[in-house]
Amino acid sequence: MEQLVTFHDYKPETLSFHDAVVEGLSHERKHISPKFFYDERGSKLFDKICEQPEYYPPSVERRMLLRLADEIASLTGTGRILIEPGVGSAAKIRLLLDALQPAAFVPMDISFDYLKSVATGLAREYPWLPVHATCVDFTHSLPIPQQTPSGPRLLFFPGSSLGNLHHDEAGKFLEMVRETVANDGMLLIGVDTKKNEKLLNAAYNDAAGVTAEFNLNLLHRMRHELGMDCNPTMFKHRAFYNSKIGRIEMHLVSKQDQDIRFNGHRFNLEKGESLHTENSYKYTPEEFLAMASHSGFKSIRHWLDDDKLFAIYLLEARG
Ligand code: AVJ
Repeated sequence: MEQLVTFHDYKPETLSFHDAVVEGLSHERKHISPKFFYDERGSKLFDKICEQPEYYPPSVERRMLLRLADEIASLTGTGRILIEPGVGSAAKIRLLLDALQPAAFVPMDISFDYLKSVATGLAREYPWLPVHATCVDFTHSLPIPQQTPSGPRLLFFPGSSLGNLHHDEAGKFLEMVRETVANDGMLLIGVDTKKNEKLLNAAYNDAAGVTAEFNLNLLHRMRHELGMDCNPTMFKHRAFYNSKIGRIEMHLVSKQDQDIRFNGHRFNLEKGESLHTENSYKYTPEEFLAMASHSGFKSIRHWLDDDKLFAIYLLEARG
């Protein structure tokens, strides 16, 4: 059978790592965006995090999607235009494609080379599925290529990726999704729940130290890519659940007073001062559904696993 795969490069404008580091370290509260975790080594470390027994979201969501595939398809119907921002290796959508039988798939990712190989692989594996691969920074826009057939849309956003956004940003992102799926559109989204703090803290402090290595990789990047004289051994990984705000915070904490000189800048870190590297917001079903409703969605159904560790929501655009 003829395989259809097209490529569309919307040339995502990434703030350079250099500018982001200088900007983030110049603040009173030093920070760096988690999107800079994912160089090649960081992406591999993230895949390894997903294999750690303490980091429950990927395995729980995977089990749920496997079990729910037919039920989800009976609620969405088949033949939709399926869109996935931040598709990565496309591991999760493979669990649903046979049940959903979409009329076309629009995978989106910021990294063109990776997207190209993943989209080509998908088209080969699913010869009946037209694939329109779209290179874009999905936090800014969700462009649907013109070749994409018309028809009701379904956007898939697994992995609790929404958790990296502050509440106001998450609401805005859901509004953009609402615009993109349009009338008759649906959203299928996986979101991590609030739960026992011990489980949350363990998930970001795995015993094998992989999450620590992932966090510290930012300093390796700063050294090797930017030539910065920062020493990863002078920092330690810190991750904790901030129960007041309802989010995991990850930091790189300075083990001693230090000055980092870089391109004419001088960044001073006191002992115990930290570089804030990630937030991962958690939502109760009530909180998430209220936010989704505010962004123009109404709930069709949602599911929790038996231990209430993770939630999957199917929503439909309100007219
Ligand atoms: C990819 C943002 C969903 O917040 O749990 C995992 C990233 N950071 N362990 C998360 C992450 C440390 C992950 N997200």
